[in-house]
Amino acid sequence: MNPVQLIIKKRDKQRLTKPEIHFFITEYLNGNISEYQMSAMLMAILLKGMDLEETYWLTQEYIESGEVIKFENTNSRFIDKHSTGGVGDKVSLILAPIAAECGISVPMISGKGLGHTGGTLDKLESIPGFQIQTSLSRFKELVLKNGLAVISQSKEIVPADRRIYALRDVTGTVESIPLMTASIMSKKIASGIDGLVIDLKVGNGAFIRDIDTAKKLAESFNKIGARFGKKVEILFTNMDSPLGTCVGNSIEVIESVDFLKGNYQKDLKEVTFVLLSEMLIMAGIVRNYDKAENMILQKIKSGRALQRFAKFVELQGGNPDIVNDYSILGEAEYSLPIIADSEGYIKDINSREIGWALIDIGAGRKKVSDKIDHQAGVKLYKKVGDKISKGDALGEVFYNKGNGKIVANNIKKSYQIGAKPVQKRSMILGTFSSFGV
Ligand code: URA
Repeated sequence: MNPVQLIIKKRDKQRLTKPEIHFFITEYLNGNISEYQMSAMLMAILLKGMDLEETYWLTQEYIESGEVIKFENTNSRFIDKHSTGGVGDKVSLILAPIAAECGISVPMISGKGLGHTGGTLDKLESIPGFQIQTSLSRFKELVLKNGLAVISQSKEIVPADRRIYALRDVTGTVESIPLMTASIMSKKIASGIDGLVIDLKVGNGAFIRDIDTAKKLAESFNKIGARFGKKVEILFTNMDSPLGTCVGNSIEVIESVDFLKGNYQKDLKEVTFVLLSEMLIMAGIVRNYDKAENMILQKIKSGRALQRFAKFVELQGGNPDIVNDYSILGEAEYSLPIIADSEGYIKDINSREIGWALIDIGAGRKKVSDKIDHQAGVKLYKKVGDKISKGDALGEVFYNKGNGKIVANNIKKSYQIGAKPVQKRSMILGTFSSFGV
């Protein structure tokens, strides 16, 4: 087979066969297909799509590029949550220890920041010593011992996604239904889950901006999950403004720890609790949202969820004292307030623009080899629906390098201010079944 012919075939909107997909992925991993040919193929897939059968073969190829974890001789329920990517989305850091405390085992294979969105692994790596690479046997041991572990794709597990994910990040090929399905479902299926709850983010800060595309992606997740015999529940959540107060890496860890201490941001709480409730219902631990909420609150109020988080950090090599002493995470050298220059009500905050702005001070990457500046980020003191006066601080930018003034100004521009009061909206747009997908 000739890679150029396969690129042309997809470019011309033809269907690739199972052996062709197998050839393209394996030869890329063997070094016989170049990065530029893979980039061209990814762009062709993004523009011309893949049908469900092709998506299934691609997912299978990703999974078979590495090992598949099996948790044997245990009664535990292995359920994970995955987000399609957002700005300020630190839900995994909060949700996984609470779920573990409620009796669910959470084997999480996560990703680094992609495009303008943040990544759970980058946030965790802001904790001194935290290891995101472990052997699969150690990963299994951690999940069985503490109910959760979060690691990256590796040479052992979905190596195809590890390489292709990094390439998509820098070639404008993230927003594709088949590529997102194969990337997300392969990681999850290979990690040995029984079921998965997906947080499908929709809006200006998400890869999926409209509900119709979101429904198509949800259908793809659901059908591919079913082909692999996995339960998949999908929640559509709003990403029209950043989640919580902090966007960055170490500052999002601090916000997550604060949450586990019972200091909730309303929007973050809504999304986290609903996703956790779906996990608890899927695991058969509770029957409804009310029971789930009581259980979650109890795990937070008792301090057990925070202890579980500290243990998780320690077991993965990080310094668990960060839960009591945030200074361990270090602080950015400079900070600049973002000052409102008009009065009114906040109608919208464009989280995509915030995500891109923060890349300029190192909170995300422009190219694969870029190093993250873990302390860089922004705290947003005003959110959608808030009334503001001229001179109010909308937020504060933290940075070590780059031009903080330009970033602060770009973040200010992402705020839309109107004269009329704005109703605060729910973060939950619907579920797979409520949308009748
Ligand atoms: N997260 C992933 O793991 N993969 C994608 O393609 C998008 C978000």
